[in-house]
Amino acid sequence: MVGPFEELRVIYVGAEAVVKLVEWRGLKLVAKVRVPKPYRRPEVDQQVRSERTIREARAMIRAKRAGVPCPAVIHLELSTSTIYMQYVEGESLRAVLASGAEDFSEIANGLGTAMALLHSTGLYHGDLVPANVIVQEGMTYLIDFGLAGRSDDVEEHAIDYHLLERSLTAGFPLIASKFMEKVREGYGSVLGDAAVSGLLRRVEEIRARGRYVERGEHQV
Ligand SMILES: Nc1ncnc2c1ncn2[C@@H]1O[C@H](COP(=O)(O)OP(=O)(O)O)[C@@H](O)[C@H]1O
Ligand SMILES: [Mg+2]
Repeated sequence: MVGPFEELRVIYVGAEAVVKLVEWRGLKLVAKVRVPKPYRRPEVDQQVRSERTIREARAMIRAKRAGVPCPAVIHLELSTSTIYMQYVEGESLRAVLASGAEDFSEIANGLGTAMALLHSTGLYHGDLVPANVIVQEGMTYLIDFGLAGRSDDVEEHAIDYHLLERSLTAGFPLIASKFMEKVREGYGSVLGDAAVSGLLRRVEEIRARGRYVERGEHQV
């Protein structure tokens, strides 16, 4: 990569990563930097951050190749565990719904389509909540592939659906069911009705089992 990245501002400070808006040759990019953890030995820490950075970038690249609307990976800097990616200018789905947007059909349909494209390429997202979806001019982008992984198992795909439904129900109870109906439509338009039925059957099983909180740190 030629030339410096100029830091414009910090967008987000999380437990694992800091997200900054940067400029590179007149282009606005996002830098997602995984921060050192003092409780890990430095060599281990460096390795964990590198691995997670590579893993996240790999999932994004694979998703992009499958046609999933998500940020393009521009550059990786492993010495600082940084992914430079396309800046998706827009609002998070959480913000859009919190502002009381009534016409969410297209957004929900787009989210279902994006999820189906992701699953069809053998990936799951792992953290599919409204804060990890950005809406840009009606287009629905998935971001935050930090917990994404590869699996063709319907179980992992159903967990994505289930987590999305749960977080929508918790945050936006009045519209959640209508929203998910449109998500299913979008999902079915890519993968077909049989895939939707299979997914929903597994979601029911997951609900009955109560298994949804255990994915996270230990899978990496
Ligand atoms: N490519 C991007 N374009 C625009 N905003 C982004 C982008 N990536 C991350 N963000 C912003 O930064 C926040 C945190 O990024 P995220 O990848 O979700 O980190 P974390 O893994 O800590 O949740 C997002 O909720 C979003 O507001
Ligand atoms: Mg996030």
